[in-house]
Amino acid sequence: MSASIRSEGVSHAAAESGGHASTGDPLLAVEDLAVHFFARSGLLRRVGSRLRAVDGVSLSLAAGETLGLVGESGCGKSTTALAIMRLVQPTSGRIVFNGRDLAGYSRAQLRDVRRGIQMVFQDPHASLNPRLRVGASIAEPLQIHGNGDRAAVRTRVVELLEMVGLDRVHADRFPHQFSGGQLQRVGIARALALDPQLLVLDEPVSALDVSIQAQVITLLQDLQAELGLAYLFISHDLSVVRHVCDRVAVMYLGRIVEQGDRASIYRRPSHPYTQSLLSAVPRPDPRRRGATGRIVLTGDLPTAVDPPSGCRFRTRCWKAEQLCAEDSPELVDRLGEGTLSACHFAETLTFDHKL
Ligand SMILES: Nc1ncnc2c1ncn2[C@@H]1O[C@H](COP(=O)(O)OP(=O)(O)OP(=O)(O)O)[C@@H](O)[C@H]1O
Ligand code: SF4
Ligand SMILES: [Mg+2]
Repeated sequence: MSASIRSEGVSHAAAESGGHASTGDPLLAVEDLAVHFFARSGLLRRVGSRLRAVDGVSLSLAAGETLGLVGESGCGKSTTALAIMRLVQPTSGRIVFNGRDLAGYSRAQLRDVRRGIQMVFQDPHASLNPRLRVGASIAEPLQIHGNGDRAAVRTRVVELLEMVGLDRVHADRFPHQFSGGQLQRVGIARALALDPQLLVLDEPVSALDVSIQAQVITLLQDLQAELGLAYLFISHDLSVVRHVCDRVAVMYLGRIVEQGDRASIYRRPSHPYTQSLLSAVPRPDPRRRGATGRIVLTGDLPTAVDPPSGCRFRTRCWKAEQLCAEDSPELVDRLGEGTLSACHFAETLTFDHKL
């Protein structure tokens, strides 16, 4: 390991406590985050409206833990991730990392913070420069942050390649010479270059073959145990989320509708939308596979340009009542068990699709 590059000063509380620090201030706290897009052309401009991609998202993440962010396509998962990275500009809200509110940060200050938060994208082909040898891609963040001379950078690149199960010879190859799984390992190595505390993983295995997915997930778990990393793990695959996450946040049309411990959410989901998602997950136990319980959603699919009044899920919800149209339910602990739910009728829900 090259001491000149690895930031020894970074306090990895989770690593010191066996990777499960969950007390004290969160590593990341997102508070009432909104990202609205205003189109310069096309339909949005014609109707003069805004697209509320993210519209009041709050979530928190402790050092060393994995929070799963799930929800159907277009609900705002990637936009949330990009706003946390400040790759898109939040419309409002707070992003507090290590106790520091990033909202008013200048570009230079953000660059410093970015050492601590790195992102891995779904498609490694798209996220790496095809004309750069992968060693150069991995070295880029080190060079941008002025970490060490050429020899030190080379040593760190080799170390990073080995950390993700690749070999030093891979440094001199181009992206097209790698398989999808290998290339995602390169993406992870690049994200680890500056010794971050948090990785934002946006569908990190969705583009990979199922057999390769398991290998990359195992790698992520090993790295987390070794380095005490926290993960914001974005996925639409609830089987994968169940396997890797400590806590889960469920997103619907720009908002979090349920958030809690993985075990509690999978045992007793307290929002109808979570119930519908879980009811579609195949059961691993063959004796239960035949049992029905699948919730098929009907009703109008709303848009983020013109979301429904009150509860945003009400146009598809089989439990909806008049109150749901009038009053937007807060995300609060409704069952007294620690899980937060944004459903007025959380206490009355039953669920019989146990996994
Ligand atoms: N740059 C942009 N300009 C305008 N609208 C955008 C932009 N980026 C995202 N959107 C819109 O914001 C909404 C949320 O998109 P986002 O990509 O965050 O969803 P997602 O949950 O990541 O979906 P997926 O599961 O398909 O990746 C969508 O309606 C999308 O069309
Ligand atoms: S608040 Fe009403 S519409 Fe919303 S999820 Fe609960 S029952 Fe359904
Ligand atoms: Mg996305």
